[in-house]
Amino acid sequence: MAGAGEVERWSGLRAWLYSLIQGNAARNRFLVEYAGVGPGDRVLDIGCGPGASLQEAVKAKADYVAGVDPSPSMVRRAANRVPEAEVREGSAESVPFEDNEFTAVWAISAYHHWADTDAGITEMLRVLKPGGAFYIVERELKPGSSGHGASYDDAIGIAAEITEKFDVPAKVDTLGAGRARYLVVTGSK
Ligand SMILES: C[S@@+](CC[C@H](N)C(=O)[O-])C[C@H]1O[C@@H](n2cnc3c(N)ncnc32)[C@H](O)[C@@H]1O
Repeated sequence: MAGAGEVERWSGLRAWLYSLIQGNAARNRFLVEYAGVGPGDRVLDIGCGPGASLQEAVKAKADYVAGVDPSPSMVRRAANRVPEAEVREGSAESVPFEDNEFTAVWAISAYHHWADTDAGITEMLRVLKPGGAFYIVERELKPGSSGHGASYDDAIGIAAEITEKFDVPAKVDTLGAGRARYLVVTGSK
């Protein structure tokens, strides 16, 4: 479960502001392209916020697009923004979908907010179909700097931990998106 603090943080005025200023369409387009999303795909965004990436997955003609977020305010915003998507209240640690439902599962700028990353990875792998892929996307931070995102070394550490603890090979790629660069920790079930 996401902590009450996280739900509070992503509610009210902040949710409204975030939905106005975010919408890094370039980043989301790069990810959809990188993941090769298209017809036949079933996509889940964990920590979908106001739903910008859901919109890109719908544009790419995925068969089914879903989002999960612990903040009711974000869920409402995402559902309004992307009526084609199924958006549910939930968290990375407790994903309200059945086993083996998705071909692609991603978490964009959300992993660093998860309360329990092991539980989150377990859930990501549970809802993925065999052969499906996960994408943990974080804005790239300079080594040693702090903030919302991950350094390249942090991302390598996340990939190594997933490989070791879950026996799933994971790697790190870089996505250029406008002035920011994003790191993607990715692997297949
Ligand atoms: C920085 S926003 C990113 C939103 C969206 N992915 C995007 O890139 O625009 C972080 C989101 O993570 C969500 N979040 C916080 N804790 C979470 C958890 N434990 N599981 C899933 N999502 C969580 C927040 O509610 C918020 O919507």
